[in-house]
Amino acid sequence: MQVQVANHPFLDGHKRTEIATATGDLMERNIVVIGMGYVGIPAAALLADVPGHSVIGIQRRSRRSGWKIDWINDGKNPFEGDEPGMDELIARVVLEKKTFRVTDDFAACKDADVILIDVQTPTNTERIPEYLSLRTVSAQAANYLQPGTLVVIESTVAPGTTEHVVKPILEEGSSLRAGTDFHLAFSYERVMPGKLLEYITDFPRVVGGIDAESTLRAVALYKTIVRKEITPASVLTAELAKTMENAYRDVNIAFANEMARTCEAMGVDVYEIRELMNARHDRHMHLAGAGVGGHCLPKDPWLLKFGVDTYGEYPVALRMIALAREINDEMPLHLADLTIDALAGQGVELDGAKVTVLGVAYLENSDDTRNTPATAVIDALQEKCASVVAHDPYVRHLDGYELTRHLEMALASADAAVVVTKHRQYFDLDLNWLRETMRTPVLIDGRNVFDATVVREAGFTYRAIGKA
Ligand SMILES: NC(=O)c1ccc[n+]([C@@H]2O[C@H](COP(=O)([O-])OP(=O)(O)OC[C@H]3O[C@@H](n4cnc5c(N)ncnc54)[C@H](O)[C@@H]3O)[C@@H](O)[C@H]2O)c1
Repeated sequence: MQVQVANHPFLDGHKRTEIATATGDLMERNIVVIGMGYVGIPAAALLADVPGHSVIGIQRRSRRSGWKIDWINDGKNPFEGDEPGMDELIARVVLEKKTFRVTDDFAACKDADVILIDVQTPTNTERIPEYLSLRTVSAQAANYLQPGTLVVIESTVAPGTTEHVVKPILEEGSSLRAGTDFHLAFSYERVMPGKLLEYITDFPRVVGGIDAESTLRAVALYKTIVRKEITPASVLTAELAKTMENAYRDVNIAFANEMARTCEAMGVDVYEIRELMNARHDRHMHLAGAGVGGHCLPKDPWLLKFGVDTYGEYPVALRMIALAREINDEMPLHLADLTIDALAGQGVELDGAKVTVLGVAYLENSDDTRNTPATAVIDALQEKCASVVAHDPYVRHLDGYELTRHLEMALASADAAVVVTKHRQYFDLDLNWLRETMRTPVLIDGRNVFDATVVREAGFTYRAIGKA
């Protein structure tokens, strides 16, 4: 594939490097990936599969994540949900090719041609970026940074962060100058659990270097694993594109959720309306549901806002993204309200009611519970009901909540089953078995898992987000 960099306007006006350098001569051999999570592991493993590459992952030995070091070094995939290709890839690069290993020692950065930074970048309760990990690993990498190394920030950051936060830390810790002595770029991942490998290799990529040389080096690196177009941009453009892309999705989901509430009030099905709308090829209404979770969507709009507030030339209100966050955050509470209403309709006393929450991962067929709307659903139900049991087939642990993987135990004598996550196991539920297992046949559907007519004919009281 030809990388689309030669004539891009961003490179004009900069010292032009021959296109040849972006298409092979700058083969990076020693690669360090800092942060072994949903983004760092697939990136590291894919890079390690490229002939000539040697990859070291750096992961701290924290209580929650430290186990991944030995786990990966044993050639095992640490993800619990569906992750096509991951088992084989990790086994191949760790055990067969021996081109990938993980350590907690930042001294690995000393021999690195490239350092990727893939740590989490949450926002705090004030909706301000919490860059403890980003700052710490940047400072630790800086201690070992050598002239000529390329550093790429893959973590999602507030626009302006690469230049104003990371660059000064790297320069100060290394006594080297970015752009002169070492190279620096921002290039965002578009992965999501369940598609970690596919979305790295088969999505177009945006690469924003602080100068032309950094951009070309980073393009050459990604060309080894990305099959789609790689577009160079300025650092700020790349940072804005990432945060705006996720804010766009959050706003669109909020629209779908508002239309779902409208359809409930009007007694029609929002999913049917969505199909009618999307029959036009240029309409793309998103899916309504029980809320938005994951590490990214709930915080990336706030990263965008922080970037504008901090580095913009003047303030912008960003009312739409704030309202979208509010609408999406209300959905788990609405699901709990539907449950309470349905129980009351069946004459179930709440102080004796058992409710079963089906799914605590934020995403179907995945083990990722970060910012999951399930916790808001459980909290709201626990305030009113005697007992709330949470089931998930993939999740091992959810801080502060009791979980079971045993479906029958979870549903036995329940007065309501509430679907929060559309794991495939819930689509396969035998309705007769379910009705006999539960004490009261109340089914609350937060993800359009069931057909209303079928479920009602099977004897259930059925309430659902976006349906009559
Ligand atoms: N999860 C996604 O689907 C996704 C998609 C696109 C972008 N992103 C962005 O990528 C970044 C990483 O996300 P993620 O989902 O991989 O996070 P993650 O929490 O799964 O992984 C981050 C890893 O970094 C490790 N880490 C943190 N501080 C460290 C330190 N000081 N030393 C060594 N290791 C350290 C953590 O222990 C963890 O294992 C975030 O900025 C996120 O917004 C995530």
